Amino acid sequence: MPLADIVIVDDDTGMRSLLRTLLERGGHTCREAADGVEARRLLDERPAELLLCDVRLGGESGLDVVRELAGSHPETAALMISGIEDPEVWEEALELGCYGYLTKPVPESALAIGVANALRRRQLERNVLTSAYEETVRRLALAAEYRDVETGRHVERMSSYCAVLARRLGVDEAGCEEIRLAALLHDVGKIGIPDSILATPDALTDEEWHAVRRHPELGHRLLAGSGSPLLELAASIALTHHERVNGSGYPRGLRGEEIPLEGRIAAVADVFDALTSERVYQAAHTADEARAMLEAGRGTLFDAAVLDAFQAAHDEIEAVRLGDRAGSAQER
Ligand SMILES: [Fe+2]
Repeated sequence: MPLADIVIVDDDTGMRSLLRTLLERGGHTCREAADGVEARRLLDERPAELLLCDVRLGGESGLDVVRELAGSHPETAALMISGIEDPEVWEEALELGCYGYLTKPVPESALAIGVANALRRRQLERNVLTSAYEETVRRLALAAEYRDVETGRHVERMSSYCAVLARRLGVDEAGCEEIRLAALLHDVGKIGIPDSILATPDALTDEEWHAVRRHPELGHRLLAGSGSPLLELAASIALTHHERVNGSGYPRGLRGEEIPLEGRIAAVADVFDALTSERVYQAAHTADEARAMLEAGRGTLFDAAVLDAFQAAHDEIEAVRLGDRAGSAQER
């Protein structure tokens, strides 16, 4: 049975502690709130999987509390509990998207099953949403590839390097996979830059440079504000992968830890891949030359801890780089 962090909202102290006893006996963790204000404070403090909310909270309607919290805490599922069997009330609860409606006195079995079902449904819905976001990321990355002369191979390799570096820096497996997916979109803002500029083998004019340097902001604008943690991470990488720790990067000239970790990771991964790849404007450097060039920027252009992780992950980085080369050779 899935276990959860549950916030119980009831103005009756005795009822709250009874529900808490029953739920904690089932292994859940509970916090108690007497009204909507307290419930919001608890959720702001720490998110919860489930809100078990009484319909009549003194002078306040539990349905109004759920309606209000649904906007600010969409990650929390709501289960209503009530002393009255009023069809109008439970129909409204259903319309609000509540995951169930229990009537007092609630037998322990009904409570356990109601809570377990609500948690399972919440998990299923979240899984569907997560895969939808992942699919969005893959398709947007594909759209960006159509516009980028450097092809999808660069994007795939750079993203894999990011995941390797994140793992070395102590990010957990789920976090590394998120960074890998999010990094696929680091250059998505290039969608807004003319082909003639992206594909030119000549040195760029000042005006063309100005256009190219807009791609972090364009990518960020495209990705930010969805509320999906994955797309927000992608927005952050898009915005900050050309920042440098001494403030010489763009678009904002951020320094050191003003640049989020994912941006500092993406900077090393992106430059290493650019240096070791054939580009319209340059021949490829060897991996050793590229490593030495990155080291020359230690602490000035690149974050020292990320470079340490990069050097420590030498074998994994090479496996990605060489594995990819084998992959491209087979494709031709
Ligand atoms: Fe870029």
